[in-house]
Amino acid sequence: HRAGRDRAGRDRAGRDLPAGAVPTLGFVPTMGALHAGHASLIEAARAEADVVVASIFVNPLQFDDDADYRAYPRQLQTDVELLDAHGVDFVFVPEIEEMYPGYQDGDSAAPLVRVEAGELGRRWEGASRPGHFDGVVTVVNKLFNIVTPQAPARVQAWFGEKDAEQLAVIRRMVIDLDHPVEIRSLPIVRDPSGLAQSSRNQRLSEQEHRQAAALSAALFQVHDRAAQGQPLEVDGVVAQLNLADGVDLDYLVVVDPSTLQEIEPGQIQPGGEQAAGSGVRLTEDDVLYGRALALIAARVGPVRLIDAVELRSG
Ligand code: PAJ
Repeated sequence: HRAGRDRAGRDRAGRDLPAGAVPTLGFVPTMGALHAGHASLIEAARAEADVVVASIFVNPLQFDDDADYRAYPRQLQTDVELLDAHGVDFVFVPEIEEMYPGYQDGDSAAPLVRVEAGELGRRWEGASRPGHFDGVVTVVNKLFNIVTPQAPARVQAWFGEKDAEQLAVIRRMVIDLDHPVEIRSLPIVRDPSGLAQSSRNQRLSEQEHRQAAALSAALFQVHDRAAQGQPLEVDGVVAQLNLADGVDLDYLVVVDPSTLQEIEPGQIQPGGEQAAGSGVRLTEDDVLYGRALALIAARVGPVRLIDAVELRSG
């Protein structure tokens, strides 16, 4: 699909570039069912790049649950209109056969050669959804190769901080596999209730929408304690969530954003002291260097939801 009438490709690429300058390509990979979170990535890409490419592909390799794959919302027409309205130049919408030749439903052997996310891909979301991040890095690896222009260009790829683990895994993939791609990220776009916007929210009833706000409320509680320099008391927040109506909590953890390892209370006490209470207390350095991220995952009604908040001092 080429979004944009005669604008795209014809005159935007390289239009304002001085002779000899290398153009920038901005890439936003998505699975469609686009919302304001995706739009924020497109807008940021548009602001920095000469040419913007988005992709829409519901990648079967990253779904551990076939029912979730089949129920994933698909609305190509509306999506392309949204991308067009936000000034995307090209939309890549491959068929499964184009991405994975020989792929058939279910336990397909294709593709034979895949990328593995390794240790990072087995934590948290990866533990609950085995193979999920292997599917993500396999498809993102392919998409990076497909969209990279043949002429010299700087390539930036944009990701949301909502999928905090995905972002960590992709940053690592780019290092480990030497992709000439700069990874950029943007904060989470939320509903007024605090709920992180997600394509899967479409499948929540009104009541479930209200119940789902408990996830971000829990993260904000941890965030506010960190901001006030108090012990985080994650256990207490977990106990509250376990009592919350309609929320089936999988995990709520405080981790290092790049290793995704849980930050243990003992590791981060200033001067090695135990903080009062059972909770974790962040050092100034943890907060200063953005070394702490609270992650949550829970099932609400028919869907699994995730959210993340960076912890900062006040
Ligand atoms: P998808 O869930 O469509 O998300 C595409 C991008 O939008 C991701 O980088 C995601 O983090 C970002 N995003 C989603 N909701 C957001 C929100 N509320 N605020 C800000 N950003 C948000 O993530 C995927 O697709 C796939 O795994 C993909 C990378 C395309 C590989 O298949």
